[in-house]
Amino acid sequence: MKYFTLNNGVEIPAIGLGTNTIGKADGNYWGDLNGDYRPIYTALKCGYRMFDNARGYRNEGGIGNTLYESKIPREELFIISKLPGIPECVGSEAAVRATIEDSLRLLRTDYIDLYMIHHPWSDMGGLVATYEVLMRLREEGKCRTIGVSNFTPDLLDLILNRCGEVPSVNEYQINVFDWHDETTAYCKEKGIVPIAWGPLLGVSNFTASRTWTFTPDLVKLLIQRSQGKSAIDELNRYSGYTAAVMEIAEKYGMSWSQVQLLYNYKAGIVSIPKSFSIEHQAANLAAVDREMSDEDFNYLHDKARGIGELKGVMHAITHKDAKMAGDI
Ligand SMILES: NC(=O)c1ccc[n+]([C@@H]2O[C@H](COP(=O)([O-])OP(=O)(O)OC[C@H]3O[C@@H](n4cnc5c(N)ncnc54)[C@H](OP(=O)(O)O)[C@@H]3O)[C@@H](O)[C@H]2O)c1
Repeated sequence: MKYFTLNNGVEIPAIGLGTNTIGKADGNYWGDLNGDYRPIYTALKCGYRMFDNARGYRNEGGIGNTLYESKIPREELFIISKLPGIPECVGSEAAVRATIEDSLRLLRTDYIDLYMIHHPWSDMGGLVATYEVLMRLREEGKCRTIGVSNFTPDLLDLILNRCGEVPSVNEYQINVFDWHDETTAYCKEKGIVPIAWGPLLGVSNFTASRTWTFTPDLVKLLIQRSQGKSAIDELNRYSGYTAAVMEIAEKYGMSWSQVQLLYNYKAGIVSIPKSFSIEHQAANLAAVDREMSDEDFNYLHDKARGIGELKGVMHAITHKDAKMAGDI
C-alpha cells in the first residue's frame, strides 16, 4: 500500500474503500439496510485497510461489526467517519459530542482515524464553532485527524482565518464531471490532502470503449438536455478524454479504472472507489502500485480539462441513459 503524509504527520493510505451504499438493498443510497457486508470482507481480504464511512450512510453499525469481527488489529485499520451538517448533530458542542460518541459505539472503536464535517452549511459562525469542537475532540484522542468535505477555497480560508489551521484533508468530487481544479490548487498550496469521492464516475466500460457517432437523434438529445446550448464541443472533448484513458490503459496493460486511480495518485490525491465486486476491488487497490510516465500523466491531464460546462448532460447520457444513448 502507498501512503500520503498528512499535515499532522498521520499517514493515510492512497486508496480506501467507498462505503456509501454497502449493506443497503439494491446498492441504493436510500435503500433499507439489508445486513449484507460481504464487500467489506472481500475488501479486507484484498488488503484494503481504509474505509470511508459517514454517520449519514446509516451503515456504521454493520461496517463496524464487520471490521471488529475480522480481528484485524485496530491500529492497522484507517476508519473515516463524517459529521452531518444538520442541527441535531451540529447545533451545539453537546450535539457534536453525542454524534461522535454514537459513531464510536457503532464502529466499535475508541477512536476514529479521520473525522470530517460532511458538508458545509450556510451559518459560517456555526461552521467555525463546529470545527473548533473537532479540534478539541482531536486533542482528547477521539479522532487522530480532522478534515472537511465538500469545502470550497472560501470555506477553507474561513477555517484557516478563524481557527488558525487548515484541515488535514478535504474530500470532494474529483472526476471528469468536475475536477474542481481551483479547490485542488488551493489544497496543494496549503498542504491539505484532497480525497476524491466518485473517482470512477464519468468513465465506464461503455463510455471508454465508445466512439460517439453524431447521429441527428443524439444531437437532438444533447441539445434538449443542454437547454438549447450546443453540446457538440463538449461531447468531442469528453470523447477525447475517454479515448485517452483507453489509450493509456492499453499501453500499460491496465483497466480504465486503474488509469483513473493512478492518475489521482500521481496528482497527490487519495481515492476512495467503491465496488461490490472482489475483482474490481483488487484491481482498484493495485492501481497505485503501477507506473505511468510523467508524459502520459500530462497527456491525460490536458485531455481531461475543458470538460465540465455541460457535465449534467454528460452525466445523464453516460450513466442513467447509457442504454438509451447506445441505442441511438
Ligand atoms: N463526502 C461526500 O460528500 C461523498 C459523496 C459521494 C461519495 N462519497 C464517498 O465516495 C465513495 C465513492 O464514490 P461513489 O461510490 O459515488 O463512486 P465511484 O467509487 O467512483 O464509482 C462506483 C461505481 O464504479 C464501479 N466500479 C468500481 N470499480 C470498478 C472497476 N474496477 N471496473 C468497473 N467498474 C468499477 C462500481 O461498480 P461495481 O460495484 O460493479 O464494481 C460502482 O458502480 C462513496 O462510496 C462514498 O464513500 C463521499
